[in-house]
Amino acid sequence: MRSTAGPQLITHLPIDRSSRAPLYQQIYEGYRRAILAGHLRPGQRIPSTRALAAELGVSRLPVLAAYEQLLNEGYFAGRRGSGTYVNADLVTGRRAGKRTASTSWCDQGIRPFRVSSPALDQFPRSAWARIVARHARAMPPELMGYGDPAGYLPLREQIAEYLRTARAVRCEASHVLVVSSSQAALNICAAALVAPGDTIGIEEPGYPGARFALAGPGAAIAYVPVDDEGIDVEQIGASRAVYVTPAHQYPLGVSMTADRRVALLAWAERADAWIIEDDYDSEYRYVSRPLGALQGMDAHERVVYMGTFSKVLFPALRVAYVVVPPRLWDAFLRAREALDIFSPTLYQLALADFLREGRFARHIRRMRDIYRRRRDALLAGLARHCHGKLVVHNADAGLHVPVWLPDGVSDVEVVRQLERRGLAATALSTCYGGATPRSGLLLGFGGADERTLDRATRTLGDVL
Ligand SMILES: Cc1ncc(COP(=O)(O)O)c(C=O)c1O
Repeated sequence: MRSTAGPQLITHLPIDRSSRAPLYQQIYEGYRRAILAGHLRPGQRIPSTRALAAELGVSRLPVLAAYEQLLNEGYFAGRRGSGTYVNADLVTGRRAGKRTASTSWCDQGIRPFRVSSPALDQFPRSAWARIVARHARAMPPELMGYGDPAGYLPLREQIAEYLRTARAVRCEASHVLVVSSSQAALNICAAALVAPGDTIGIEEPGYPGARFALAGPGAAIAYVPVDDEGIDVEQIGASRAVYVTPAHQYPLGVSMTADRRVALLAWAERADAWIIEDDYDSEYRYVSRPLGALQGMDAHERVVYMGTFSKVLFPALRVAYVVVPPRLWDAFLRAREALDIFSPTLYQLALADFLREGRFARHIRRMRDIYRRRRDALLAGLARHCHGKLVVHNADAGLHVPVWLPDGVSDVEVVRQLERRGLAATALSTCYGGATPRSGLLLGFGGADERTLDRATRTLGDVL
């Protein structure tokens, strides 16, 4: 998304020759401020160093130094021969004008370090567009009315087959409920399972979205510590349900050991409680084969299993699913209907074809290599630019790497500083609900290419 207009000279760059600040720094600051304030837009062309030096009446050296720094920090992007631009991946959050809303939403998905963002640039757009267009043109009137609250049956069949083969989930299409997101699935769980005064166990640290949804109906939250084997089952206590991310714990990244899984299932049976398994990004595992779902080990139908297409395809699709234990089906269907009746039919039709034609499986296979390369680039960048300033905790799976920061360093402040530079990390402390939070960062690597990740780690090193 590059502007075709000619480069804009910034005649209002506030250069003060009497200032003690070096010229390169004034030029750098002038551009940085203009970008952050939204006076210069992502994708907008920047004058050549020669043109700017001439306009300002200064030598080219300070201009070159300023441009170099702006390129390194990701404010500028450019290729030899095609000029320099304001980085199109940058979000300033303060853009003026009509385009603000749409461009900032779009940019948010691909800001470096953004957690859980998939590689949107790699999505097979044309194949997808063809399938969507085909259905949009040919949608029969009967599919244009209210759809089945459980979901479009051929899609439920495809999802069930995928989950049986790829995730070892025990299910039939009749157990699969199509919903608009995992977040919607969590709200449905809250409505169907939780009554005021119930206690719900949640991993600590854990996914804040689960905490918000499950506490909604007036439940007390029990924060259950996570160690290197997953949730500490002995500390769950008396709870109506417990929320877990066994394949790839959010945010710490550990995968729950077989012993813990067995203990957790035994706890649920003993306590007459439910397990909510959020399998949000288990398709990507870099050290061994992806682990099967906890749900597949459950002989007593105590697990409510949920997954989403947000990470494997793209978040704006808003399609996710729940595999519901048979005795909970009616309650879940009622709660699903109460929420928004059903999910958009057009995308369900398109998605069913995307899975049936094998495109979904192919996409996942292809993305594994791409994400592995991006993860490796992030780790290499951290080793090169952040050595001694942080400790990588776990990088075996998923689309983000959690790192610890030294005691006394505020992760919220680091995230704020990164945000000013167009980067979108998450502060680990925001994932704690009860215990004293540990300082750390969640660094997403899915949404940015290797070069961008290297530059982003350099900026992170500077900030730290
Ligand atoms: C653990 C976890 N569950 C669920 C989600 C959200 O998925 P959805 O977009 O389907 O609501 C995320 C998103 O980052 C996540 O990290």
